[in-house]
Amino acid sequence: MKLWGGRFQKETDKAVDAFNSSISFDARLYRHDILGSIAHVKMLGKCGIISMEEAGTIAAALNGILKDIEEGLVELDVEAEDIHMNIEKILISRIGESGKKLHTGRSRNDQVALDMRMYLKDEIVYIKKLLGELMEALLALAEKHLDTLLPGYTHLQRAQPVTLAHHLMAYFQMFRRDMERLDGCYKRTNVMPLGSGALAATTYPLDREMVARELGFESISENSLDAVSDRDFVIELAFCISMVMMHLSRFCEELVLWSSHEFSFVEMDDSFSTGSSIMPQKKNPDVAELVRGKSGRAYGNLFTLLTVMKALPLAYNKDMQEDKEAVFDSIDTVKACLSVFTGMLKTLKIKGDNMYKAAREGFLNATDAADYLVKKGIPFRTAHHIIGKMVNYCIEKGKSIDDLALDELKSFSQVMEADIYEAVSLNKCVSERKLPGGPAREAVLASIKNGRDFLDGSGFQD
Ligand code: ARG
Repeated sequence: MKLWGGRFQKETDKAVDAFNSSISFDARLYRHDILGSIAHVKMLGKCGIISMEEAGTIAAALNGILKDIEEGLVELDVEAEDIHMNIEKILISRIGESGKKLHTGRSRNDQVALDMRMYLKDEIVYIKKLLGELMEALLALAEKHLDTLLPGYTHLQRAQPVTLAHHLMAYFQMFRRDMERLDGCYKRTNVMPLGSGALAATTYPLDREMVARELGFESISENSLDAVSDRDFVIELAFCISMVMMHLSRFCEELVLWSSHEFSFVEMDDSFSTGSSIMPQKKNPDVAELVRGKSGRAYGNLFTLLTVMKALPLAYNKDMQEDKEAVFDSIDTVKACLSVFTGMLKTLKIKGDNMYKAAREGFLNATDAADYLVKKGIPFRTAHHIIGKMVNYCIEKGKSIDDLALDELKSFSQVMEADIYEAVSLNKCVSERKLPGGPAREAVLASIKNGRDFLDGSGFQD
């Protein structure tokens, strides 16, 4: 018999049981469901809604079920529909009549909202931990490469020289914002919905604040209809995860490019790359490609969730059961991607010589040559034109700007002196960009220090 079977005269069709059931994917909520029930039942006892003795019996039995599930001793049943009813059914089979009092003053609608909030809070903490570990790896690598020059690109064309540390710290900033977004999402998830009932709260004098305290929630929800029927906190997490995945996928794209023969800026460690079944020479950056590819799943899940919720009338609708697989998949995906990506980054071989060689070709110092003329009193737009002509001359001669003799330089502008060679050296191009946010050693060091302070205060290791 179904827990809700009273008003029915027929058994549910087997196909409907299978179709309606969420146990295959919501079983992972078992621990949060049980802890939520224990807090609820303790409160029922304390408020005199059931006897303290019964509350104690139910809580002890729930703890026993938790232990048995963790030891693999419990079989979950499709006919019992979902994790909430499975556990209630097992409880009743174990302790009989008092077990039937657990659901007093509660609906599965506020129960599932509670479970999801509890579960997502724990997952956010874990995702933050993995993100923090990646950010630490970035800081460590940046510290080692404060003076490693490489081309910076716009339109994937060589543009101006930067350092590898500066490039890596750009990703650090992206992940820092992702971390802050997760904190905001956590805050909005940290609201306790129990007491909302099916939709219109309940007549029992529940102590909602007590349940919130027991379960470590910051506050209680303010509107019963809203608390059982919105999943914006689920969608927000799916969005935060999509953003992490988008950042990871950009980074992966660069690592794929950089490990190609054409760039040859980095080499993946053997333990983080794979071979070809036919071409014996191949070493492929599969890990980076897969992380890049998996960003598609995360975006898909976000759109699934937005679309499931679109146009749903208040309050709970069964459509909302579809929130789980999507957000669970996003969570599993981002966790797997973050941990494998950090491993890949930590073992990555940096080919600094090739980066430097690439930075020397392609007139990356042309802007600095124009700025040199500006310092000698020539208006920037005129200087831009003069250096443009000079670059064209260099291309014809197969030379770089600093290969030109002083009289060749002077033929473009009389103000050129021998000090131009120093002014357009790659080291100067970087070291003179020392304003906050720039690639010069001292600016990047300051940014690394800020990054460390941020991580120390972020609580990601708690
Ligand atoms: N398994 C359901 C879900 O995930 C639980 C809530 C069901 N409530 C209901 N009235 N059918 O949404």
